Amino acid sequence: MAKKRRVLVLHGPNLNLLGKRQPEIYGRLTLEQINRKIRSLANELRVEVEIRQSNSEGELVSWIQQSAKEFGAIVINAAAYTHSSVALRDALAATGVPAIEVHISNIYRREEFRKRSLIAEVVMGQIAGFGVNSYLLGLRAAVDYL
Ligand code: DQA
Repeated sequence: MAKKRRVLVLHGPNLNLLGKRQPEIYGRLTLEQINRKIRSLANELRVEVEIRQSNSEGELVSWIQQSAKEFGAIVINAAAYTHSSVALRDALAATGVPAIEVHISNIYRREEFRKRSLIAEVVMGQIAGFGVNSYLLGLRAAVDYL
């Protein structure tokens, strides 16, 4: 499959705990169940997805740096690094691979510190507050772009 039709989906720190982690905020689906929904939509949209999760900022930075070789777009839930990581922001800006920022929760209805996304200025757009659908809408936006 051409590079253009491949989307990299990145989950940041603590998203491996989905299902058990604050279900009143993040819902009851596990990461694996969310990933299944992403893969199923990708099949429907005839696009290839690669899904990775890391708790490590450096690993996410390396994956973003390497993404230009293989992927036409990135869908990223940077989780807590959204609000703190200049390194992730710089990596996204440097690769030039169009990215869509997603969040399960509506970060603007929560604590003050979550209202600021350091990556918002270097992504195509942001989808927040729709639970698992934030990822699915993000994937649709990525595929539309491709
Ligand atoms: C999150 C929102 C972040 O503020 C938080 O740190 C997360 C998850 C979300 O998907 O709603 O870990 O990105």
